[in-house]
Amino acid sequence: MKTIIEPFRIKMTEPIHMISRAERIQKLQEAHQNVFLLDAEYCPIDLLTDSGTGAMSTQQWAALMLGDESYAGSTSWKKFEATVKSITGIKHVFPTHQGRAAESLLALTRVKEGDVIPNNSHFDTTRANMLSVGATPLDLLTQRGLDPDDESPFKGNMDIEKLKQCINTYGASRIPFCMITVTNNTGGGQPVSMHNIKTVKQLLEGYGIPLVMDACRFAENAYFIHEREKGYRGKTLLAIAQEMFSYVDAATMSLKKDGLSNIGGFFVCHDDLWAEDFKNALILREGFPTYGGLAGRDLEVTAVGLMEALVYEYQVYRHATVEYLLKKLVARGIPVMKPGGGHAVFLDAARFMDHIPPSQYPGISLVNALYEEGGIRSVELGSVMFGHRDEHGVEHPSPLELVRLAFPRRVYTQSHFDYMIEVIKEVWQKRKSYGGYTIVKQPPLLRHFSCHFEKLSS
Ligand code: F0G
Repeated sequence: MKTIIEPFRIKMTEPIHMISRAERIQKLQEAHQNVFLLDAEYCPIDLLTDSGTGAMSTQQWAALMLGDESYAGSTSWKKFEATVKSITGIKHVFPTHQGRAAESLLALTRVKEGDVIPNNSHFDTTRANMLSVGATPLDLLTQRGLDPDDESPFKGNMDIEKLKQCINTYGASRIPFCMITVTNNTGGGQPVSMHNIKTVKQLLEGYGIPLVMDACRFAENAYFIHEREKGYRGKTLLAIAQEMFSYVDAATMSLKKDGLSNIGGFFVCHDDLWAEDFKNALILREGFPTYGGLAGRDLEVTAVGLMEALVYEYQVYRHATVEYLLKKLVARGIPVMKPGGGHAVFLDAARFMDHIPPSQYPGISLVNALYEEGGIRSVELGSVMFGHRDEHGVEHPSPLELVRLAFPRRVYTQSHFDYMIEVIKEVWQKRKSYGGYTIVKQPPLLRHFSCHFEKLSS
């Protein structure tokens, strides 16, 4: 059969309510035109993020009841540690309450002012955590990864030449580690090939620079390697993930993505000194090292979720949802990032709203239009999230203006996707009627979460 069906049945439902277009315009006005400031009850189709928004399986709900809430050395911790070790093969395992806590403690313990941290593309929280300790985060994505029309299979790859140049320019002593993000969320959820991970590791080894993986979507990346990279068809996703982790010295992880959990994260490393420093910082800020800011029940749930994310049928279904939406948009000539990402479809706002310059945030215009027209909450990954305003008030744009429609895991069905297509089509037809925005209030870091916008007259 050609039809790929959801590899699950729905046992519990959560109601969603549609509010009128006039009410949506009113709600967005009250939220200062920033969808992060909207109440979720007014977002019937919530594609803001795939982070922590997934549905748990029966196995996970059952595991929740087994949570051992002992402060130290709980059985839930033992299961969690064993699962993480079985996938990563890495010696020291530390739970954290989510991904950015792992990043923040890594930055605090290993990074100093003046350091440089290369990555294929930093996600916003990694970037901000490195900046917050006075380091410079650098994005060294290949040129292909920056071209929305390029259909290369591994557009998340690190540019090896740029990495070499970076090491030559700054010197290994200023680079405490290099990161690699799988999949590359910032650049359209695009995967990184095994070959690229291996080559990056080989290059770094020559300079004694450790490699740290931002492993949030490691299972989706493993699926892409299985489908697209020569020599991996016969392997399980677990074996592929194990190989990916075999090339890194440490990893940060948000279990809210491929942990199929509503909360959680971890940090893993081989080095005993790194582990000792991390442990001490963890105890001070997150909790004792056998729970690290999580409840025992969370550790149970994520231990099950991590393995479920590596089930091949699940990844086939997940990828099919991305492809379903993507193909229908491409067929209508709507500009998107190609090929489809692992966790989302990314609209190319620069071309979608080509009458709006980057300084007036075409991505925000598109995000707000999708909400006003159809109650879809999406997120801008463009000049608001990755650009910045300098001390002279000049805006520095991001190389890409994307709008991400992130898919919560196991949540929306095909009719929801058909509805999305209808809304996007409507916005596409009326695109010239939407204007740009200006920022009237913003914090110094991570401005997209809380800044206030105002509509510019079109
Ligand atoms: N790294 C990447 C690549 C991410 O996508 C995220 C989170 C994090 C780190 C931080 O993890 O949220 O658990 O603290 N991304 C979410 C998103 C928020 O919407 O893409 P966290």
